[in-house]
This record gives sequence, C-alpha cells and structure tokens, in this order.
Amino acid sequence: MSDFPGLGDVAGKRVLVRSDLNVPLDGTTITDDGRIRASVPTIRALAEAGARVVVTAHLGRPKGAPEAKYSLAPVAGRLGELLGAPVAFATDTVGESATATVAGLADGEVALLENVRFNAGETSKDEGERLAFAQQLAALADAFVSDGFGVVHRKQASVYEIATLLPHTMGGLVAAEVDVLKRLTESPVRPYAVVLGGSKVSDKLGVIDNLLGKADTLLIGGGMVFTFLAAQGHEVGKSLLEADQLDTCRSYLARADELGVKIVLPTDVVVDTAFPSGDVTPSPTVVAADAIPADSLGLDIGPESGKAFAAVLAEAHTVFWNGPMGVFEVAAFAEGTRAVAQALTGVDGLSVVGGGDSAAAVRALGFADDDFGHISTGGGASLEYLEGKTLPGLQILED
Ligand code: 3PG
Ligand code: MG
Repeated sequence: MSDFPGLGDVAGKRVLVRSDLNVPLDGTTITDDGRIRASVPTIRALAEAGARVVVTAHLGRPKGAPEAKYSLAPVAGRLGELLGAPVAFATDTVGESATATVAGLADGEVALLENVRFNAGETSKDEGERLAFAQQLAALADAFVSDGFGVVHRKQASVYEIATLLPHTMGGLVAAEVDVLKRLTESPVRPYAVVLGGSKVSDKLGVIDNLLGKADTLLIGGGMVFTFLAAQGHEVGKSLLEADQLDTCRSYLARADELGVKIVLPTDVVVDTAFPSGDVTPSPTVVAADAIPADSLGLDIGPESGKAFAAVLAEAHTVFWNGPMGVFEVAAFAEGTRAVAQALTGVDGLSVVGGGDSAAAVRALGFADDDFGHISTGGGASLEYLEGKTLPGLQILED
C-alpha cells in the first residue's frame, strides 16, 4: 500500500486515467509507440500503489460510433508489453464490457476501455451530453488522473467534465509537459529560437502572433513557408500557398522588424515538378528561394538554408520546434528536417520537439528520444499553450 501524488492512498480504489494513446497505425500495426511509452510511468505508478487502473483514451477521430479501424485493441496489446503485465481490454466505453472488465480487476491490475470517441457524448458540443457521458465514465471509478497531455486543449467529457465529478489530480506526464512549457514561456534563457514548419500557415497564426513578442528568432520552413515567400513578392510556382494569409504574413514580417525579432526564411528550396507519390521517382532540384520555377513546387528547405538554420540553433539556449521542414517521409525531401533535428541535438540549453507528428518524424529519421531535452506528446496542446490560451483540461484541474 502506498500513496499516489495528489490522491493519497489509492490501494483498492478504481482510478480512471485519461491517457493520450493516439498513435499512428498502419492497419493494426503501431508505427510509433511514443505516446504509449510516455503513458506507462503514471499507469505503472498507480498499479504499484495498488489501484485498479482503468485507462480511457481515444484513437483518431471517429464520429461518435464504433468503427473497427479506430479500435484501441492493438494499443492494449502494446501497453501490456510495455507494462510487462496483461491489460484487460473492454470492447466498449461504458457499457457491459467496460462494467464487467472493471469489476474483474484485482488491486494493481490494469484495464483499457475501447476508444472513448466511440461514444458521441465524448466530443459533443452540448455540455449536457458531455456531462451525461462523463457521469457514465465516473460510475466506473473512484478517482480520476488526467495524464493525456495531447488532449488537454480539448473540452471533452473524459478530459474536462470528468474532473468535475471525481476527486482528481494531474498525472506525471501532464505535469512534466507543463513544466517544460513554463520554461518556454515564463523566462526562457536567451537566445530563444523557435522553428516552425508543417503545411499550413493558418494552423500557426496564433502561435506566431504570440511568439513575436517572446522569441528572439523565428525560423520558418515546411509548406507554410511559401505563403511567407509569396508575401515577400517571390514567385512560388506550384508550391502550397494560402492566398488568404498573404496580408497576415506581411503584417508579421513588418511587426518582427519593428520588434527586432528575426524571422529567418530559407534562401534555397528543394523543388520537384510533382508531389512525391508511389509511382513517381522523385527528381529533386535545389533552387534559390526567389527563383522557384513556375512548373515546380517546393518540398523541402535547401542545404544552404539547413546550414543557416543550424547556425542559429547552435547559438540558442532555448529552442522549440514544431512541424517538419519538408516532406520528410520521402528521403529526397527529408534533409531539411534532418538538419533541424540534428541541430536540436546539439543545443546548449533546453531543446523541445513539440508534438505527435514532429516527434514521430524525428524517430522515423533515426534520432533517439534522449537526443533532445524534451519530446512533447502534444502538438496542438503545446501550440495552444504557447499561444497563451487557457487549456480547459489544465484549468479544470486547478479549480
Ligand atoms: C493529437 O493527436 O494531437 C491528440 O491525440 C489530439 O487529437 P485530436 O486533435 O483529434 O483531438
Ligand atoms: Mg478541481
């Protein structure tokens, strides 16, 4: 018998843990188990304290009803392997299987409920519907541990309403993620550089807006960079372009100038005449960022830009990175992302890889988790935190 931080003696109690086990799958094969590994310490600590651990999580975005391809069954198997103990899997969220599975747990045993988003109440826009579903979840447990960092920006039943119904605490993963985010926002050791990539600038507007007042340098790559290049008046050929964001990008460039914040854009780009697909052999060409041919599209930052980005990161003492620099899944367009990842491994200070996709990217490129100061399990959640937003799943734990 031992205490669990924030809940006291949990021996013999049923403890519901919200984890983020939303891992990429190829069929039923887990292609990156980072989020499952990150969830293990809290689950193990509860089990070792004698709790009957009931894990709830989502996978993908099913529409409030069961869908085989979004089943958590493969995740239950992997979780059991990592825990070194069997995980009982309930084939529904709060129904007969869940009730029987939880009732069958002995002290120190672990169960996983089926995808919580198979129930429409989980993500309903109607507060009453979410609360009603949270009450069904709450009936399965005596206490709640919030440990799904990747979903703390979601006002959903298993993240938010549940904490209004059960004694609750923050799990170790969420606590560790929040600690790192505080170091990035409260008094970052300077120089503070932020690398942003990914395809859409419209996903990053809030974070750019807020970081312009906080970071010393913003390095921009990925598909989103072409809207910035176009905002500077360059032709971008067939590259991704969000025409409705050109003015916003221009205003960011102007504000950065006024504030003395450096926005660094690539000076060279790897282009091809078509987006890489299975039946086309890539023919990558490096061109100057202001000379993208009309028939081509940019698919990665070029080698000169990779070196320039790395040089900025070598001077920084705090780095946050979200979003790949190019189509890293294809070797011909992975070098920009690799250069940034490599540079992060050498940062003298705090280096943070933010997000599920960026985390999966660095692992796919062969980097190890401990090459970085911190690999966040939540992309959307960490971006919203850096935007300065209130995250419902964190706020409800403070009340
Ligand atoms: C993620 O993959 O970012 C988290 O698991 C949250 O998933 P969601 O964006 O579908 O809410
Ligand atoms: Mg509270």
